[in-house]
Formats: sequence, structure tokens, C-alpha cells
Amino acid sequence: MTAHAANDIVARAVEVLKENDQGTYTIPTKGLYPFQWNWDSCLTALGLAHYDEARAWTEIETLFAHQWPDGMVPHIVFHVWNDSYFPGPEVWRTGRPTATSGITQPAVAGFAVRRLFDRAKDRKLAAERARALLPKIDAWHRWFYENRDPKGEGLVAIIHPWESGRDNSIDWDDAFERVPTEGVEPYTRRDTLHADPAHRPTKAQYDRYLWLVQHFRGLGWDNAKLHDASPFQIVDPGFNAILIRAATDLADLAEALGETAIAKANRARAQKGLAAMERLWSDAHGQYLCLDRVAGTLVDSASVGGILPAFAAIPKDRAAAVAANLERLSGTARYVVPSHDPGDRRFDAKRYWRGPVWLVVNYMIADGLAAAGHGQVAQRITQSSLDLIRESGFAEYYDPLTGEPLGGGRFTWTAAMVIEFLRDAQVGGA
Ligand code: GLC
Repeated sequence: MTAHAANDIVARAVEVLKENDQGTYTIPTKGLYPFQWNWDSCLTALGLAHYDEARAWTEIETLFAHQWPDGMVPHIVFHVWNDSYFPGPEVWRTGRPTATSGITQPAVAGFAVRRLFDRAKDRKLAAERARALLPKIDAWHRWFYENRDPKGEGLVAIIHPWESGRDNSIDWDDAFERVPTEGVEPYTRRDTLHADPAHRPTKAQYDRYLWLVQHFRGLGWDNAKLHDASPFQIVDPGFNAILIRAATDLADLAEALGETAIAKANRARAQKGLAAMERLWSDAHGQYLCLDRVAGTLVDSASVGGILPAFAAIPKDRAAAVAANLERLSGTARYVVPSHDPGDRRFDAKRYWRGPVWLVVNYMIADGLAAAGHGQVAQRITQSSLDLIRESGFAEYYDPLTGEPLGGGRFTWTAAMVIEFLRDAQVGGA
């Protein structure tokens, strides 16, 4: 790509970010997602920093202003009422001063804040803002291990598929059989008004998403109770790897800022987590798998959740196996990384997290693989991501076989990731 073409794409990406900017937070896209989402915001901050560092810090600060007293950072903050999304505050009823959902999302904040800090041109501003966020992110990490790892195994469970960020992954299908649907209050979905129903989760899945929400609401959103009371407890390798990476990054940042206690606690969490991840490894698949904590078994489902651990400092031989697996996947899909192995009969090229490519996931995998010395595979992922943008625009997700844009359009975190990819790509020509 020429420097001119790259600059043009960045300018278009910045337009998307500005369009979705609400002043102190950014919505993922108009219509489909009109509020602030947790991991969207943290990754979006990296794109914002490209043209406004102060605004980037604000994005993450706004999210943490709505952290719960117990340390949890909710997956959605409903800043301004809007009826284009379901389930809204009237379903969650979490009783927070500003309405929020009652579950969390991948803990990518520690990673994002370290990256903002490392790159900051305004060092004084960065030190101030990072220092204020440190104890909050640390409290969130502590919350995870206290509430989602009750036996101290070193790995945390999600209790709702939405927490993983990979809402309708094939990974949850078997465990979902255990989630009942009796007593689900009547509801009308809104997502299918904004996007093709064939590209979205099914009604059977939605019923179960809502059953879980009602079940947790019935327990007063008391996190001391929810994990054990949930029929859905999954140890997702991608989710854990993000938390482990964030803990390592937070430890480095805390050290740089002289906060030794925070550094020590997070270093220990990361170390224990990395050792425990071995339990999730599958030689047969050449990647990690989810563990169904209720059933006590690994889930036979080769999703991108088991490739994402490349984002953390996994052992060298594991990273090499994941890189080899990615090369194999490049042979089956025109664009990588598909969210599910196309060789699996359950793969669906267009249905959300059951096959399509998502640029945020690509970004984290490429980042980790490059750091582990697998530059070529990382480059292949970056190239696929940029090809998708050039051919199909800033979509929510993409068909890995055809590149067709799917879901919402003018999508914030997709735009932010493109700015990131181009920052590191080698751009030549005039
Ligand atoms: C969908 C995605 C989730 C994302 C949200 C907002 O629910 O599955 O990962 O955070 O949309 O973009």
C-alpha cells in the first residue's frame, strides 16, 4: 500500500471515530449499539490517541467512573436512554446511579492503558492519568479472581456468553443445553431491526441469554453468589489470556510509576494464570480450548478463543503451535482469522462469532505473535485486516471466505484497529 493510500484510510477511520464520539465516550455504532461498551472503549482509546491523547484517556476514565463498588467494571454503561437496543436498563435493573448492565467483559483496560502510556507524547499527562487509573484496574483484576475463581485455580470463569465478547460462539452450545428457558419474560429483539437476522444469534440463544440475566437479577446482582448459582460457568482461554496480558502490562506500568504493591499483585496473578492455562491446551487441535467448569470437561470446539492466548506470554512451543495452526487456517479461509475453524461442520461464515473475522481479535493475536517472533504470520493477519477494510469498509465483522461486510457499519473499534494496523505496517511509495 502506498503512503497516500494509507493516509486516506486513516483519515476515513478518524471520521468514523468522530461520528460515534459522544464527548466523553464513544458508541460502537449508531442504531445497533447506542451506549458505551467496555472492551470496545478500551481498544477504541488506542485509535483516539492517534489524534487526541487527552480524549483517549477520557474514554477509559468514563468507563471506570461506572465501576461497581465491588470492583466489577460493567459491560455496558447506559449513559443516555435510547430504545434502539435490547435488553436495556429496564431489564437489567442493577440499581446503579447511572444504569449499567450487571455482567462484565474482557479485561483489556490494563493493556490499553499501558500502551497509551508507553506511546504518549505528553508524558506528564500520561503519568497523571495512568496513576489515577492504576488502582481501579487493579481492583477489577482482584474482583475477577475473588468472584470468578472461587477455588483459587488461577483461571476465571465467565457466567454469561456476553461476558466473553464472543456472544454466540459455538463454544457455548453444549453448556447452553443446561440453561433453561422457562419463565423468560416476553421480549422484542432490536438487533434484528438493524442487522440481517441470518447474521445474528438465534432466538433459542436469546432466550437463554435472557434467562441468565433474569436469574442473576433475582439474586440481586450479588457477585458473591452469581458464579456458583450459574448453570453456565466457562473458563474461556481467550478471556483469561486477555486478563493475564492486562495483569502483566499493569504490573509493568505500576513499576514504572513506583506503585510496587500493585506491580507485585498483578505479576503474581499473571504467573499463576499462565501456569494454569496449560490445563486448557489441546494437542489434537493445536490450540487452547474452553473448560466447562460445571461439567469439568474441555469443550471440543476450535474457536478463535483458543488462538487468542497468543496475546499473553504463553510458552514458546505453544505459540509456535498456534502460529502453525494459523498457517493452516490461512489455507482454508481467504481472510484470517475466522472466529471458528472452517473445517468444523458447525462453522457458519456469516453468523456473528460462529465464523466471521473480527478485527479486534486479529489485532490482539497479531500483536502477541509478533512479540513471540512469529512476524510472518502476524503480517499475514495484518494484511488480511487491511484487505478487508479496503474492499469492504469499516464493518462490524466480515465473511472469512468472501470478505463480505456483515453486521453494523461505520464501526468504531474496527476503525480504531485499522489505525493501529497502519501505524505498524510498512507503508511504501508516494
Ligand atoms: C457485540 C459483540 C461484543 C461487542 C458489542 C459492542 O455484542 O459480540 O463483543 O462488545 O457487540 O460492539
